[in-house]
Amino acid sequence: MTKFLATLVLAAAAPVALAAGAKFPVEAANTNLGDRASLQRGAAMFMNYCASCHSAELIRFSRIARDIGLSEEQVMQNLNFVGAKFQDTVTVAMTPEDAKAWLGAPAPDLSLTARAKHQGADWIYTYLKSFYLDESRPAGWNNPLLPGASMPHVLWEYQGIQRVVTEPRPRDAQGREQACRHGEVANACFVRFETVSPGLMTEAEYSGLIRDISNFMEYIAEPAAMERRKYGVWVVLFLAFFTFLAWLLKKEYWRDVH
Ligand code: HEC
Repeated sequence: MTKFLATLVLAAAAPVALAAGAKFPVEAANTNLGDRASLQRGAAMFMNYCASCHSAELIRFSRIARDIGLSEEQVMQNLNFVGAKFQDTVTVAMTPEDAKAWLGAPAPDLSLTARAKHQGADWIYTYLKSFYLDESRPAGWNNPLLPGASMPHVLWEYQGIQRVVTEPRPRDAQGREQACRHGEVANACFVRFETVSPGLMTEAEYSGLIRDISNFMEYIAEPAAMERRKYGVWVVLFLAFFTFLAWLLKKEYWRDVH
């Protein structure tokens, strides 16, 4: 019996252990698709700082306007820097060949990234928080979530510049290497990030900024989620009401049986 229970506990713990064993811990972004102001700020940041390299070809400017509550003028003036039409999708002027030549790798389309990543918006949030100085990289930056990534830290002015402090992997009594406790970076164990020079924002402000971008990317990865939220409330209310009706009906039927 104890063995059976132990197996059960192990089975239940397995997915958690797997997540903990992942190379670098992902922080909760606490995004909220119901927060329009956050989505609007995220959209502006995305178009200003990301769309110069990344496209989001599955979403149209007109759809963004409708879903996050902006007018055509606002979108065309504040979000569209590539001369696109209101009905166009978010494309990028840079060709994949140019990107490869300048950056070493093409910048992938970001339409579905929040869904493609297992931890969704939380992954993007942690990614945007974890760029650190690495002189061995062509652009001078590295990232524990995408080791050897070719993307420079485009938001460094806001966050500031950080370097990573690591320690060797722990060893067991036999001298065998063990897994890192707080994640892995640069082939060693992550200890903490250390500020080299501060940015324009405090840590809390910067977290808010990248939360907005992650929120916007979560939205573009599944615009239908906005509608589902709207209808969801009515579906739940209807179900509650219907359950009540069914219960009344049951009472009515059973009255005759007793
Ligand atoms: C200077 C060009 C450039 C800019 C600007 C840029 N990126 Fe990138 N980004 C890249 C490149 C190149 C890669 C591919 C990295 C690799 O695979 O080595 C990348 C990768 C990514 C990835 C990982 C995608 C994946 O599928 O693994 C995410 C997420 C991302 N960028 C988000 C952003 C966000 C958000 C912004 C705006 C704040 C941004 N990027 C701005 C060039 C850029």
